[in-house]
Amino acid sequence: MSSDPSFELNSEGLFRALELLEGRGASRGASTSLPKSLPHVGIGEREALERLAPGVLGRATYLDAGHAMAHMDPPTPWITWAVALWSARLNQNLLHPATAPFAREAEACVVEWLAPFFGMNGGHMTAGSSLANLTALWAARDLRGVRKVVASSASHLSVRKAARILGLEYVEAAVDPRHRLDPATLPGDLSDACLVLTAGTTSVGAVDPLAGIDRAGWTHVDAAWAGPLALSGRYRNRLSGVDQADSVAVSAHKWLFQPKESALVLFRDTEAAHHTLGFGGAYLAAPNIGVQGSHGAAGTLLLATLLAWGREGMAARIEHCMDNASRLQAFISAHPGLEGFPDGGTGVIVFRPASRKVEAFSAALPQGLASPANLNGEAWLRCVAANPNADMEGILAAIDEAGRR
Ligand SMILES: Cc1ncc(COP(=O)(O)O)c(C=O)c1O
Repeated sequence: MSSDPSFELNSEGLFRALELLEGRGASRGASTSLPKSLPHVGIGEREALERLAPGVLGRATYLDAGHAMAHMDPPTPWITWAVALWSARLNQNLLHPATAPFAREAEACVVEWLAPFFGMNGGHMTAGSSLANLTALWAARDLRGVRKVVASSASHLSVRKAARILGLEYVEAAVDPRHRLDPATLPGDLSDACLVLTAGTTSVGAVDPLAGIDRAGWTHVDAAWAGPLALSGRYRNRLSGVDQADSVAVSAHKWLFQPKESALVLFRDTEAAHHTLGFGGAYLAAPNIGVQGSHGAAGTLLLATLLAWGREGMAARIEHCMDNASRLQAFISAHPGLEGFPDGGTGVIVFRPASRKVEAFSAALPQGLASPANLNGEAWLRCVAANPNADMEGILAAIDEAGRR
């Protein structure tokens, strides 16, 4: 039987895919109209690329655009595109050491490189921080017998979700005016609780007091957003106290510039955590650790980026984003027509027009510059410094202009 060319390297097809990428989806024919039901006969790979390019590439938001600052989603470096191509071709499954010997080593390597920045001794990758939080809380329940989860009202919804899945009671603590957990509102007895502290809240980038609350059965730090500041000599003190945690979640698909889905769950005592989270199976050569079964080589993409840039290169890009955030915050503070929310110190800038409706002001901004944030029932706008290519001159001019309309 002759081999199926769909599974062979097609350099011409892949080259065309690159051309389409370069032209942002401008394609012959340029229509993405899709059949209403599964086609009986396919149109072939080359035609499928042409058909999809105007939609996939042409109707996308480019996160490296000069005004892109609305979300915690960064652009990704080209090295990750190249390694993602290799990974798609290999389709390794990290569940099976035989199919993915190097990819497993790559994941172990990035975990080993990054865990010490948080005072942890290991961990594993997950497909995002919702899963990293769930995994950490699962370890807390099974290793320490915690019965409730205590987190601030500004914590991410994934913490509530994890409590629900794990059958744990969810107890909410209040926040101070800067949206940091207020320790005075914590229950007196935390011995049967997993305390979740956030480093970089989703709405305003606030960092909870990470040090000094050492009376919980287990302490987890959700550093999905701000965790990568640990790599920066300039900013790592913003996370001081994180090394006292039992576990830490960090998103690599946020401020480590990785394609989705990429995050880490790190543990102070990885051996104990992985023992609890590990399941053997008749078809497995190594235990399956954590929530996911089959999973891909996200670690290899992260390894490639860290190898290419080093700690210094990664920190320089994060610091550049922080400089952009400081510039925006200073502009807002000095602008008579704008009101700023207190700066959380992690590159999330929240503001609103001082005397106009937020919705009208927001409609006058270029799309992708700011996202809505509802704080204490009031409308605000949020910019996130995740884009190292942000054109700050243009962004400041656009905000100024929106204020004049
Ligand atoms: C603080 C925080 N924790 C957890 C998450 C969930 O991460 P993911 O979307 O990767 O599941 C987010 C997402 O924005 C977040 O901001």
